[in-house]
Amino acid sequence: MQHKIPNTFGFDVKARHLVEFYHEEELPELLSQFPAEEQEHRLWIVGQGSNLLFLKDYEGIILHSNIRGIELLQTSSLTSADVRVGSGVVWDDFVAWTVENGLYGAENLSAIPGEVGAAAVQNIGAYGVEVKDFILEVHGWDIMNQCFRTFRAEDCGYGYRESIFKNPPLHNRFVVTSVTFRLSRVPVFRLDYGNLRSHICGNSAAVNITASAVREAVISIRHQKLPNPETLGNAGSFFKNPVIPQSQFEALQLSWPDIPHYAAGTGLVKVPAAWLIEQCGWKGRSFDGAGVYDKQPLVIVNHGDATPEAIVRLAGAIIASVRERFGITISPEVNYIE
Ligand code: EPU
Repeated sequence: MQHKIPNTFGFDVKARHLVEFYHEEELPELLSQFPAEEQEHRLWIVGQGSNLLFLKDYEGIILHSNIRGIELLQTSSLTSADVRVGSGVVWDDFVAWTVENGLYGAENLSAIPGEVGAAAVQNIGAYGVEVKDFILEVHGWDIMNQCFRTFRAEDCGYGYRESIFKNPPLHNRFVVTSVTFRLSRVPVFRLDYGNLRSHICGNSAAVNITASAVREAVISIRHQKLPNPETLGNAGSFFKNPVIPQSQFEALQLSWPDIPHYAAGTGLVKVPAAWLIEQCGWKGRSFDGAGVYDKQPLVIVNHGDATPEAIVRLAGAIIASVRERFGITISPEVNYIE
């Protein structure tokens, strides 16, 4: 084992094979050197590893796209622009490109770690926007059927941090090579999440909002709340925000009248996992080098000397205490890989 696997927790984990590809045409031949069984069952597709927790060295193939390139497609629309982006493009480089080129829609997703392919698999989201809102198509190589396929966004099964690419039969068997986005040429801003609007406008109602002002505000809010993986290993939100039935929420509200919440579809309520974890007293606590980040308890950090097991133990203890106190089972957003 000699190939270091990219991961933002900062763990020194290695893979038996690390396969990098630069053009989609290379994929069929590159993969054909491995037995079909290994391609289908011992292969993990990674971006920058910003959502992965490798528990040990990986006895299989780690596949990583280096497909770059941002291409404006020809359309007749005056109000929108279609842009095809290589799956290996760094997500935030693409967002910066949209802002520089006068295209709107991606700016709320500034400064999210990762690459374009993983963003489409994970349906990344922040500040009231999800990437599915402006995906048109996802294109890639289907390992099982040995063919290239293109999925329109409506066929991708998108939901909160959810897509068909995260579940069988396509999970790790569909290699995203490019994503086509439809962005707006006319300004449309989504500023109603949290304090985004006040961050940009201050107390003034008559500010001329620009995409770059939104981008700067999002970057500044993220930097205040979220640790930089280059200095403190982490994988962003470790848990998803749980969605519970309205009746369960109302029962909880009797004991915790201040419980924060968002509507999440008919009869469903989303509760911030950060709040549940903080109520259980976890904020800022550390065990064996694994810690709950003090500014955002949804994030588990590696203080430098944690092992993957220490992260898993801490996550398990948090899940158990939230379940015991609130009767809600929170689940990791981060993938555990053995
Ligand atoms: N909260 C607390 N204590 C805290 C922090 C937050 O109680 O210390 C509560 C507050 O009620 C706050 C609420 O949690 O209003 C929501 O907090 P925040 O706005 O920070 O968002 P989040 O729900 O915790 C989600 C995403 C983030 C994304 C932010 C902003 C998930 C799992 N996480 O976090 O995504 O940046 O919204 O849109 O949905 C990521 O996925 O890695 C990620 C960072």
